[in-house]
Amino acid sequence: MQLPKIYKDKDADLNLIKNKSIGIIGYGNQGRAQALNLLDSGMNVSIGLRNESSSFKMAVDSGLHCTPVNEIVKDCDIISLLIPDQVMKEVYSENIEPHLTEGKTLLFSHGYNIHYNLIQPPKFINVVMAAPSGAGSELRKQFKIGKGIPGLIAVHQDYSGGSFDIALSYSKAIGLTRMGVFKSTFKEETETDLFGEQIILTGGIPKLIQSAYKVLLEANYNPITAWFVCYYELKTIVDLFHSKGFEFMNQAISDTAEFGGITRGNRIINENVRNEMRLALEEIQSGKFHKEWMDEYERGYPQLKNMREQEKQIPIEEISKQLLKALCENK
Ligand SMILES: NC(=O)c1ccc[n+]([C@@H]2O[C@H](COP(=O)([O-])OP(=O)(O)OC[C@H]3O[C@@H](n4cnc5c(N)ncnc54)[C@H](OP(=O)(O)O)[C@@H]3O)[C@@H](O)[C@H]2O)c1
Repeated sequence: MQLPKIYKDKDADLNLIKNKSIGIIGYGNQGRAQALNLLDSGMNVSIGLRNESSSFKMAVDSGLHCTPVNEIVKDCDIISLLIPDQVMKEVYSENIEPHLTEGKTLLFSHGYNIHYNLIQPPKFINVVMAAPSGAGSELRKQFKIGKGIPGLIAVHQDYSGGSFDIALSYSKAIGLTRMGVFKSTFKEETETDLFGEQIILTGGIPKLIQSAYKVLLEANYNPITAWFVCYYELKTIVDLFHSKGFEFMNQAISDTAEFGGITRGNRIINENVRNEMRLALEEIQSGKFHKEWMDEYERGYPQLKNMREQEKQIPIEEISKQLLKALCENK
């Protein structure tokens, strides 16, 4: 496959946003990481928070200027929305939209609110995305050691011309172009991001671990031995294929593991599982998942709260906490 263009540091010009004021709305996972990276890149950045925000002190202690959300929108040229996706529409209508003026840039790190039409920005602004492929803590950690994480950039609306270059410049300032960014669209990023979370990252993998652990316990195996194979060793294996691919992983493991893994793996992840994956994708594409999630949010998260309690009772939780504490004691 011919790789598309990978935008690196040399392709991005920090001067495009250096003289602009950047307002970050929210100081959570991404807000904190992006704000601190922007600050370290010499950008003029301030934080917009809700009244009596618990994050106020932390942001001020890090040298950041904080104001209420509506103030920041009035004052800034680039407004980066880094609050939870489900609350964005409300915050946008009340505190952002009324203060948007011609030529400002609204920047997202995930396409959700634009793709599902929760936010419909006025035509006289730029709307772009710089989506890091990873958690905020990782974005900050890598930046501090001179590295970065990759990401996707996209333009939804280019009012003033040059919106793509603004997104690229912002990506450089938060460290994404140190590794590389790819051009995408709001639709593609939103749908694939949700799919990746649900099927692999926060759905498939944790559920595979929990189920395998349950099966070993049902068969009366020692919980500690079961925990090592189902939970602890996962990171070693991910590290093996993450940087060099599955072929490298297969060379690094025993022939027994390779043979058993491929034969049994193909049986476990079978056509039924793939059909469920296809269904989950259809629910994302049709907006069914989005409606379900918004309904859950509007009702005050009854199902999520219930599931959080249930997840705490899953047997592997307790032993993971105990063993991780015991194993890390001498570190
Ligand atoms: N989590 C990740 O690593 C990650 C990765 C890639 C992309 N993204 C995207 O980045 C964006 C931000 O996600 P996140 O995980 O960083 O969010 P988050 O950590 O949950 O955001 C927390 C921040 O949002 C503020 N906030 C929450 N509700 C608010 C409201 N109603 N009004 C005003 N402020 C409110 C909080 O205010 P207080 O300080 O007052 O509590 C806090 O500062 C999302 O679009 C997400 O999809 C996230």
